[in-house]
Amino acid sequence: MSRAPKQENWSVYIHFPWCLKRCAYCDFATAVAAEIPRQQYLDGILRELQMRTVDLEPRPISTVFFGGGTPSLWGAQPIGAVLDWLDRWGGLQQGGEFTIEANPGALEHAPLADYVAVGINRISVGIQALDDRRLQRLDRLHDAATARASLAELQRLLGQGQLQSASADLLFGAPGQGMAELKSDLDGVLAYDLPHLSLYSLTVEEGTPLAKRVVKGLQSPPDDDLQADMLEQVPLWLAERGLHRYEVSNFARDQHQSRHNLCYWHGGHWLAAGVGAHGHLPGLRGDLRYGNHRDHRRWFAAIETGQLPEVFREDIDGPTLLTERILTELRLSEGIDLERLARDVGPVAAGKLRQRGLRLAAHAPLTVTARHLRLMPHAFAQLDHWVRQLAQ
Ligand SMILES: C[S@@+](CC[C@H](N)C(=O)[O-])C[C@H]1O[C@@H](n2cnc3c(N)ncnc32)[C@H](O)[C@@H]1O
Ligand code: SF4
Repeated sequence: MSRAPKQENWSVYIHFPWCLKRCAYCDFATAVAAEIPRQQYLDGILRELQMRTVDLEPRPISTVFFGGGTPSLWGAQPIGAVLDWLDRWGGLQQGGEFTIEANPGALEHAPLADYVAVGINRISVGIQALDDRRLQRLDRLHDAATARASLAELQRLLGQGQLQSASADLLFGAPGQGMAELKSDLDGVLAYDLPHLSLYSLTVEEGTPLAKRVVKGLQSPPDDDLQADMLEQVPLWLAERGLHRYEVSNFARDQHQSRHNLCYWHGGHWLAAGVGAHGHLPGLRGDLRYGNHRDHRRWFAAIETGQLPEVFREDIDGPTLLTERILTELRLSEGIDLERLARDVGPVAAGKLRQRGLRLAAHAPLTVTARHLRLMPHAFAQLDHWVRQLAQ
């Protein structure tokens, strides 16, 4: 039996690795398949969960996140079967957060309400933009009208109390989008009154079709200065509408912050299953992390021979844990929780970080209180720089 978890509940991440079409900018673990092996994947996920929970203490599950890829292509029955399995193992917590990511163009297999019927209570829909030409340039499958129909459906489900929360993802800084176009995307989404939004600045990931187009000069890269301006402007617009920034890219009304993502940012423990999934668990000497095969054939091959489908598993030593916590918690508006950090990495390391923060704060956009060390929001565009300064 491994060490007792540092939290009373488990979080669970399930990755679904297929999409109808690959977007030019995306390097997530996903593939396009003519025929998605829905039932075979469900069987595999349940076998992986069985293997992974052999030496884990069953505890109530407070959050489950079905991410992708496009999990809304899986269908409601497999999602319900995974939730049922988790409920039998640790118990799905009353009032827990059970999310699925959905793509507007990929709902014909099951409408959103079907996912609600099997226990999903939060839906995050990938809108990205509300303009047909820009959606095409991003290689998105859906058009603006389909995106609006998904947003209207979320609004309806929220209004009827069938969903506990809902979110939309938008990209900013894509070619062809200036400040006015971003405002128009935002206004379009805000019309549906969702309690949570994620806004990601488009990044050019190595090896993606977008990166190749940029190298060949066929497409211009995102403009860093414009993205930094957008990152400053967006929180002002959203705050006027009651959506407050709680993480660099995430905005929510009170009580609607994503509890699952907060588990990641606070360095919590989560069990992960599926192609390319990464988990973070208690180990024999502190925390450990593992990552699964990104190629679904390798993942299936391991599962079918009764092996964990992992490409790596490693203990996380104290200094690494500290650096990772700086990296993730500095993204939060509330900043690094020094008390929780002292519990996890020891009071000496946490105390040294606080001292470093105090020294830097004299001439840096940092504030340090007894409990928190935070980066001022206007400096979020230079987040990487301040992480390096603090992690030295
Ligand atoms: C990987 S997707 C999965 C959910 C769903 N398939 C979708 O496209 O909305 C999760 C989020 O990551 C974002 N994302 C993927 N690649 C990105 C990139 N290069 N830069 C910024 N955001 C990116 C997507 O736009 C999406 O909002
Ligand atoms: S639909 Fe989502 S996961 Fe699939 S390729 Fe596009 S951004 Fe990536």
